[in-house]
Amino acid sequence: MDAVIGIGAVVGVIVAIHIWKRLTAPGLKLNNKHVIITGGSTGLGLAVAIKCAEKGSHVSLFSRSKDKLAAAHKDIVTRVPLAKVFTYSCDVSKYDEVAKAVEAANSFQGQVCDMLVCSAGLAYPGYFLSQPLETFRAQMDLNYFGSLNIAKIVIPEMIQAKKDGHVVFVSSAMAFIGMIGYAQYCPTKFAVRGLADSLRNEMIKYGIKVSIFYPANMKTPGFDEENKTKPEETKQIEGTASTQSADEAAEYLMNGLRRGKYAITNDLACEIMRMASCGVAPRGNIVFEAVLMPLLILISWVFTIFMDFVVRRSRNQGEKNKQDEVRSIVRNQEVSDSSALTSTS
Ligand SMILES: NC(=O)c1ccc[n+]([C@@H]2O[C@H](COP(=O)([O-])OP(=O)(O)OC[C@H]3O[C@@H](n4cnc5c(N)ncnc54)[C@H](OP(=O)(O)O)[C@@H]3O)[C@@H](O)[C@H]2O)c1
Repeated sequence: MDAVIGIGAVVGVIVAIHIWKRLTAPGLKLNNKHVIITGGSTGLGLAVAIKCAEKGSHVSLFSRSKDKLAAAHKDIVTRVPLAKVFTYSCDVSKYDEVAKAVEAANSFQGQVCDMLVCSAGLAYPGYFLSQPLETFRAQMDLNYFGSLNIAKIVIPEMIQAKKDGHVVFVSSAMAFIGMIGYAQYCPTKFAVRGLADSLRNEMIKYGIKVSIFYPANMKTPGFDEENKTKPEETKQIEGTASTQSADEAAEYLMNGLRRGKYAITNDLACEIMRMASCGVAPRGNIVFEAVLMPLLILISWVFTIFMDFVVRRSRNQGEKNKQDEVRSIVRNQEVSDSSALTSTS
């Protein structure tokens, strides 16, 4: 009986926290706000831009390809004819280019940025041994420094303009887990996580909000591209995860922002990983997460065994293939030797 009362009390507290969080959610005021989105020409960035424009924001999109930017511009104004859309071609890994882009965007929109979404990023999966050092550097330049550069330009402007600014970093589920094929990518998204965690705390001083999005696989041009070089083992491990459209993922992100969440995920597996590896950062429903913790540890442990099993199996398979290859070479050699003997006798 005591156990039932105890369980009932815990469930009651969990539900009460949930309701309290919903009732006190800050919402997201986007009307007439200037939203800058890096990587806004395709995928998640474009999906977020469309949602912001639909809510009355003036959106500025930065990415490299002018054609993709023009297509994104057309897409947004077709859906939202009155949208004020600015596009600028720049490489986010180059600070000077980003500074010019921000200046041009502020001038076009007539106001400094209210919300910054750092979505520009890509993965080039591959084996650690086959990729050159340059790939590792290029990944850090784009995914980490591409987010840092613009944050370093926009945040001081938000503070100076006394804005209730909001900076949204886009990390990845790969900031919770490291696995075969992602040695060049995971560290960059872990780094974005470290930056966001630090700024979340520091920016309280200035009233600037910081959030971080940890998407799982999304069906985007970037995802199709990364699948071209993704090792088989990585695909097998990821095979257990779902793939959402960019629009669905963007909806999760916007909902998370509306609810005032710091760390936002877009599927159950990713949410499990977030809770299991949250570290010293804001949590969701603290009692719910505390109660689940033993189960989360168990799930993480089982998944680690699964990941290692996939790689071990491919190694064993590789060794078996090598032995089969050697056997077949020896067999062919024997056949050609015996036919040489027959022809000479
Ligand atoms: N798709 C997934 O499964 C997945 C999962 C987890 C996390 N993420 C993250 O989510 C974010 C969005 O990815 P996505 O899947 O939507 O990719 P996407 O469709 O390929 O979009 C990437 C965007 O970034 C831009 N970009 C790339 N390099 C750039 C550079 N050097 N300077 C400026 N812009 C650049 C691209 O345009 P240009 O090429 O024209 O520059 C494009 O607009 C990324 O940070 C990615 O790491 C994606």
